[in-house]
Amino acid sequence: MNKITAAITGVQGFLPDYVLDNEELSAMVDTNDEWITSRTGIKERRIMKDGATSDMGTAAVLGLLEKTNTKAEDVDLIIVGTVTADFPFPSAANVICDKAGLINAWGFDLNAACSGFIYSLSTASQFIETGKYKKVVIVGADMMSSIVDYEDRTTCVIFGDGAGAVMLEPNNEGLGVQDFILENDGAGREFLVQPAGGSLNPPTMETVENRQHFVKQEGKQVFKFAVTKMADVSAEIMEKNNLASEDVDWLVPHQANLRIIDATAKRMGLPDEKVMINIQKYGNTTSGTIPLCLWDYEKQLKKGDVLILSAFGGGFTWGSVYLKWAYNS
Ligand code: UT7
Repeated sequence: MNKITAAITGVQGFLPDYVLDNEELSAMVDTNDEWITSRTGIKERRIMKDGATSDMGTAAVLGLLEKTNTKAEDVDLIIVGTVTADFPFPSAANVICDKAGLINAWGFDLNAACSGFIYSLSTASQFIETGKYKKVVIVGADMMSSIVDYEDRTTCVIFGDGAGAVMLEPNNEGLGVQDFILENDGAGREFLVQPAGGSLNPPTMETVENRQHFVKQEGKQVFKFAVTKMADVSAEIMEKNNLASEDVDWLVPHQANLRIIDATAKRMGLPDEKVMINIQKYGNTTSGTIPLCLWDYEKQLKKGDVLILSAFGGGFTWGSVYLKWAYNS
């Protein structure tokens, strides 16, 4: 009997309508289009003006169900990569199950910051490969505008809101997830963290006044780690699987900074045309970036294409997934 592999069989995204461009941001904080574009590659990002992360996730899931001809009751499990669930509890997965009518599914959130989608995909693939489940939905969704300080020019220019969802199903042609490498280093919390709102610093008047419920980032430090680790882990998964540059059809990188993406592609020996990039339109949507790239590029993907998904994020967390695309659109 052929080994069961876990293949992506559909992808859908959701982006809020409101476009916050560099010009509008320049009126809010001391910044300008030239700085943002040259340092990050971002031109605009989307902002969810009404609703929560579960609304973005639900919209992506409902679109995915329609696109893949899946009945809501047939979904076994949903994993939601997010750091901006509607509540500390219940999970965004619980809320999305309710809103999308996934009456037979159970689910949970996976908090790995910008690596949320690849951690979730790797976890979900285990439930398919064992034969336990037939339909697992993976969502990467973050409403970063709910935790970004629009008085802090070093972070507010980077982040945006968005969600992507994929369907994972068993495959007997050897397509889908082939391998993954996942890593973390908790010492990185010093450089990228939402300091208050958890058990260490529960909400008080003081934490609010000190703006501790917003993302704090030491950009230069994070950049140093991100640029090295994301390139290293992408090269490592290629080496581990005997993949040469010409064997790889697409790099699907987390969209944090165009300079980090370029360094990763260079290390892998990939030309620009093999690299998925949409950071200019959406900024860094944390767990949303990778599924939103797959959604934007879906029509260009062919059955059998070799993809390397790579991310680096808060924690620190980082990793790569090697997968073979399973369908032609
Ligand atoms: O996705 C999760 C992981 N996160 C990342 O991967 C982010 C990694 N870090 C980065 O992408 C970059 O470090 C940033 C885009 C955040 C910052 O770029 P940078 O080239 O590292 O800039 P910097 O922090 O070294 O700041 C350079 C200068 C500073 O001024 P001085 O000290 O040289 O006078 C900043 O105050 O740019 C200033 N600056 C700005 N100027 C205009 C910082 N933010 C801004 C801004 N507009 N928005």
